[in-house]
Amino acid sequence: SASERLVVVANRLPVTCSKDQHGHWQLQVSAGGLVSALKGVSTYTTMWIGWPGIWVKPGRERDALTAMLVQEGCIPVWIDPTLLDMYYNGFCNSVLWQLFHYVPLNIDSWQKMSEHRAMQMQWQAYQVANQRFADVVLENYLPNDIMWIQDYHLMVLPSLLKAVVPKMKVGFFLHTPFPSSEMYRTLPVREEVLRAVLGADLIGFHTYDYARHFISSCTRILGLEGTPEGVENNGTICRVGTFPIGIDPERFTHALETDEVQSHVAKLLNRYAGRKIMLGVDRLDMVKGIPQKLLAFEKFLEEHPEWRDKVLLVQIAVPSRTDVSEYQKLRSMVHEIVGRINGQFGTLTYVPIYHLDTSLSFTELCALYAVTDVALVTSLRDGMNLVSYEYVACQSDNAGVLVLSEFAGAAQSLGAGAILVNPWNITDMAQAIEDSLCMSEEERRERHRQNYMHVQTHTAQHWADTFISELNDTHIEADLRM
Ligand code: UDP
Ligand code: G6P
Repeated sequence: SASERLVVVANRLPVTCSKDQHGHWQLQVSAGGLVSALKGVSTYTTMWIGWPGIWVKPGRERDALTAMLVQEGCIPVWIDPTLLDMYYNGFCNSVLWQLFHYVPLNIDSWQKMSEHRAMQMQWQAYQVANQRFADVVLENYLPNDIMWIQDYHLMVLPSLLKAVVPKMKVGFFLHTPFPSSEMYRTLPVREEVLRAVLGADLIGFHTYDYARHFISSCTRILGLEGTPEGVENNGTICRVGTFPIGIDPERFTHALETDEVQSHVAKLLNRYAGRKIMLGVDRLDMVKGIPQKLLAFEKFLEEHPEWRDKVLLVQIAVPSRTDVSEYQKLRSMVHEIVGRINGQFGTLTYVPIYHLDTSLSFTELCALYAVTDVALVTSLRDGMNLVSYEYVACQSDNAGVLVLSEFAGAAQSLGAGAILVNPWNITDMAQAIEDSLCMSEEERRERHRQNYMHVQTHTAQHWADTFISELNDTHIEADLRM
C-alpha cells in the first residue's frame, strides 16, 4: 500500500561511484544479478541503503556525493578501506561466498597471521560493518517500513535491527546457494551466523534445496525445531520460503526495439557474418566455470576441424572483486587458456575466442544477446543466474540455444528448454556445443518457447510481490501471537 515504504538494504548500491579524470563524480550502474533483479521491481516506493563502492572522508566532498546519491534514492553507508578489506574482501568474499558455492575454506589467505586470528578479525569486521548498516537503517527508519535485507554480506543485520526495534518488519533474501549442512558446518562461526540471520521474520531462497539445506543446518547445528515452513527460534517462528527470482523481460524486449540497440545488432552481424556466434557473459568469478567452458570449446575445435573458422565464442568477463587474490589468479588462468586456444586454432583472418575483461553497456549487452546462436552458462554453482534469463528474453527472433549448467538455480526453471550440462564433464560439454550448433530450427523454437514463457511469467516483480506479501502475512501472524 501507499503508506508502506520498501527499504532495500544491500551491500552494494545499484549505482557505484567513481571519479573521472577531471575529478568529477560519476555514478555507474552496478553489475550483478541482485541489482539487475531489483531494478525490475517497480510498484513500491523504494529506497536503497548500501555501500557506494568508494571511500570518501567525512566533509564537504562526502556531503556533496551523498546529496547526489539521495537524488537517486540511495543512502550511502561509509566503510573505510581497512574495514572494507576485512569485511568485503575477507569475510564476505574469501569466506562466505566461497563456502556457499561449495569451495572449501582456504587457509592460504589466513596463514600470514595465525589462522584463528585472521578468521576472528574478519568475523569482527563483518559484525562491525553490519553494525554500520544497522546505524544507517535506524537513522532512516519510519514505522511501517518494510526492511528487505539482501544477501550474504548482511547476515547479522536482522538481529541487530530487531534488538533495537522488535516490531520492525524484516525480511532477508539470500541470492547465493545455501550449501548442504555438511559444507556449512565447516564455518568456524557457524552458530553465530545462523542465530543472527534467524532474527528476520522471513528468510527467502531461490530454490527449495537451498531452503531445505538452511533448515537442516539450523536443526543440526543449533538443535532448533525445523518444519517445512520455517524454524522455531525462542518461541517465535522464523519463516523460510522459496522465491525464485526473475528479470524484467520488457526492459530487454523494449530495448531491442530501439535504434541504438538495432544499430549495435547490425554492426555485430556484419562483423561476425558467416559464422555461428556463441556467448558467455559472467562476472570473472571462479563459480562461473569459465575455464571449464573454454576447455570444452577447445575440445570441440580439436574434434571438429570442419567447424574451425565457422564458429566463435564471445566471452565477456566482467571484472569483479579484483582485490581478492583468488580472483586475480583466475584472471591469469583464463588469459592463459584463451591465449593457448587462439594461438592454436586462430588463422590470419580468424580468432576463435573474443575475450573481453570489461563490462558492457546495457544496449551493447542486449544486442549481443540478440545476435548470438548459443549461450554457454557453465556455473559450477550459482544461486540463480540471470544471464540465462536475459538471453532467453532477447531471443524471440532467433530462438538460440541455451546450454545451462545443472548447478545453476536456473536449471530448475529453464531446464525444460535448455541443454543441461555438468560443467566438470568436458566431453559432454563439447558434445552439447555440437548439439546446440546442429539443432533443427523446429526443436530450437520449441525449446525457446518453453523458456520464454517461464521468463515472461516469473518476473522480478512477481518475485518481490510474493516475498513482500508473505512477509506481511508472517508479520501479522507474529503480532497476533504477541
Ligand atoms: N551484467 C552487467 N554488466 C555487464 C554484463 C552483465 O551488469 O557488463 C549483468 C547481467 O545483465 C546480469 C548480471 O550482470 O543481470 C549477472 O547476474 P547473474 O545472476 O547471471 O550473476 P551474478 O553476477 O549475480 O553472480
Ligand atoms: C552477486 C551477489 C551480489 C553482488 C554481485 C556483484 O550477484 O549475489 O550480492 O552484488 O554478485 O558482486 P560485488 O561484490 O561487486 O557486489
